[in-house]
Amino acid sequence: MKHKTLKPFPENFLWGASSSAYQVEGASLEDGKGPSCQDVKEVPEGTSDLTVCADQYHRYKEDIALMAEMGFKAYRFSIAWTRILPKGTGEINQKGIDYYNDLINECLKYGIEPIVTMFHFDMPAALDERGSWGNPDSVEWFVNFASILFENFGDRVKYWLTINEQNVLTLSGPVIGTLHLPEGCTNVLKEIYQQNHHMLVAQAKAMVLCHQMLPEAKIGPAPNISLVYPATCKPEDVIAAQNFNAIRNWLYLDMAVYGIYNAIVWSYLEENDATPTFAPGDEEAMKNAHPDFIGFNYYNTATVKASDAEAMSEAATLGDQQSGRKVDGVFESVDNPYLPKTDFGWEIDPVGFRATTREMYSRYHLPLLVTENGLGAYDTLTEDGKVHDAYRIHYYQDHIRQIQESISDGTEFLGYNPWSAIDLISTHEGMVKRYGFIYVDRDEFDLKTLDRYRKDSFFWYKKVIETNGEDL
Ligand code: BG6
Repeated sequence: MKHKTLKPFPENFLWGASSSAYQVEGASLEDGKGPSCQDVKEVPEGTSDLTVCADQYHRYKEDIALMAEMGFKAYRFSIAWTRILPKGTGEINQKGIDYYNDLINECLKYGIEPIVTMFHFDMPAALDERGSWGNPDSVEWFVNFASILFENFGDRVKYWLTINEQNVLTLSGPVIGTLHLPEGCTNVLKEIYQQNHHMLVAQAKAMVLCHQMLPEAKIGPAPNISLVYPATCKPEDVIAAQNFNAIRNWLYLDMAVYGIYNAIVWSYLEENDATPTFAPGDEEAMKNAHPDFIGFNYYNTATVKASDAEAMSEAATLGDQQSGRKVDGVFESVDNPYLPKTDFGWEIDPVGFRATTREMYSRYHLPLLVTENGLGAYDTLTEDGKVHDAYRIHYYQDHIRQIQESISDGTEFLGYNPWSAIDLISTHEGMVKRYGFIYVDRDEFDLKTLDRYRKDSFFWYKKVIETNGEDL
């Protein structure tokens, strides 16, 4: 269906952008912050470590002022667990509470709605040593952390996100530096899906707690959702696409919204002797939790064909969210010949954005909050302090137009918070892969001035927000 007249973006649409603590803040061991798994992991070759990042910890006032200049209605950031609880449990670090109070207040000063992610890939190192999400106690560790956040910031934070990209953690954990396999683990799939189960229960309990402690607040999950296309209309390819859609996407949202395990995934786990063990009360906890919206990250779609092998093998666990995957007898990723790619090899699919959101809304009937979307590229700062990132503007024009198409299809959206507000360190490709509207003057290893510069996309996005999406 092609709409002749597009519906406008809703009033109070939350235009903004995103970041995460371990990628933007720096000050990784300052003011009492404990190390997270990101601070102790081996730094990928050729990329910088996370001690300084964009130095937002020291420059948040300048950064929020720039976001306000763009007209942001929201800023999605994460709270570093180890800034609040240096060891993950136990004593609270008051300086960590102070920092996030200041950050939140600074946002509110300009009318910017803080959208807080509670967990973004940064398990406290002390808890990592105790088995991380593999330890059944991880559920209570997380719920305890959540209660501290609600208690301290709930008077001002109305939008909460539980776990960033739990599905990418489950499918690619080792690449982004989190999710461990215990030594001698013989059934990798079972171990991974047990950890995944603990996260699902932790999320469910945190959602219930949020509603108890903060009746006015809204909370939702934040998985990475990519509609999976069949490579052809061959029926076997369609089955493969349904398989990967279930494994990659619907498992997470069926559980978050309906409190049930997706049947296709459950049978896949059964076939591989990998179903998770439920602790007493898990089932009830998952059924009792009801998100208020679906937060989700969208970068691209995936395409798969049937995989011929008869036997199922372990899930592929390496590669980032865009990498090809293959599970024998279940699906096999292929390139989509209709889609261009970014400089970093990620497919670009704006129409897939519309398709993904239509599908999500039909399945779950909850408003959607885009918590990430964006283009990682090599940017160049000119001698006169400009960054001509027309490629990023085009990417955003195309994607925002598709949100409007989806709104016109009847999908309800709360806001759009692309990745990222400001340049920061990529999950595994360092500082050269930039996403921000604001350029940070540093290289991979040379910290330079760390000064901020407005990219061309900065001025363009300001105009988009000013006109509530009318002038793209
Ligand atoms: C998402 C993550 O996967 O994509 C972010 O939530 C990440 O943390 C972003 O930075 C872009 O991925 P990458 O690998 O290019 O940094």
